[in-house]
Amino acid sequence: MSRPVLDVRDLKKIYGEGEATVHALRGVSLTVERGDYVAIMGSSGSGKSTLMNILGALDVPSSGAYLLDGVDVSRLADRQLALARNRLIGFIFQAFNLIPRTSAVANVELPLAYAGVKPRERRRRAMAALDLVGLADRARHEPNQLSGGQQQRVAVARALVTEPALLLADEPTGNLDTRSTEDVLTVFDELNAAGRTIVLITHEPEVGDRTKRLIRLVDGRIVHDARQAPVTV
Ligand SMILES: Nc1ncnc2c1ncn2[C@@H]1O[C@H](COP(=O)(O)OP(=O)(O)OP(=O)(O)O)[C@@H](O)[C@H]1O
Ligand SMILES: [Mg+2]
Repeated sequence: MSRPVLDVRDLKKIYGEGEATVHALRGVSLTVERGDYVAIMGSSGSGKSTLMNILGALDVPSSGAYLLDGVDVSRLADRQLALARNRLIGFIFQAFNLIPRTSAVANVELPLAYAGVKPRERRRRAMAALDLVGLADRARHEPNQLSGGQQQRVAVARALVTEPALLLADEPTGNLDTRSTEDVLTVFDELNAAGRTIVLITHEPEVGDRTKRLIRLVDGRIVHDARQAPVTV
């Protein structure tokens, strides 16, 4: 079997010190194989964002081991950590985080520009990514000319244009209505069917129900981690 995309062992995260100490993660172990589709659920304060930030190499754990696509990121210095992050992870946020007054295709091209890809190749790959999320016909539209669901699909295209090992999404449907949520989840289903590895955080049971695997966090610990029956729509 190939190496897992994510392999974390006994992650702990402690914030603050003395009386203000918070044990946000109390020993989380988790493996995610290539092609999996995972939802992480839990109530407010259970440690979801803390875990997400560590999985996304945006923060470091207090202790524990963390391999991202076989790379021990807990041992990397800041600059190398940023490089590993850019190369290995595509982020999707609740608030879309698109650049205003900038076309959809230019937004999607941005990570490729940082990676030094030439303009013509950038455009080709950005258009292909927009096509994957069903928005090739909106390439010239600016964010304020797109619906919330369309903006989030542009953000998904931007996250996958670099071909990352992992798509990591923090409440990706948190700002969307039912219809747009469905559109974004359909894109995730298609991307996963094409082999993409997706990990998302959600409060919404109907989002958690759609993934292949559901993990529940309570008070910094995993209390449930199971495969789900496939949804027949
Ligand atoms: N920077 C910080 N300093 C101190 N404590 C923190 C910090 N960030 C988070 N915490 C604490 O760690 C615990 C877990 O927080 P976290 O943000 O991971 O929860 P969450 O599950 O994402 O909650 P929500 O659903 O409200 O976003 C909480 O008790 C929180 O107060
Ligand atoms: Mg949170």
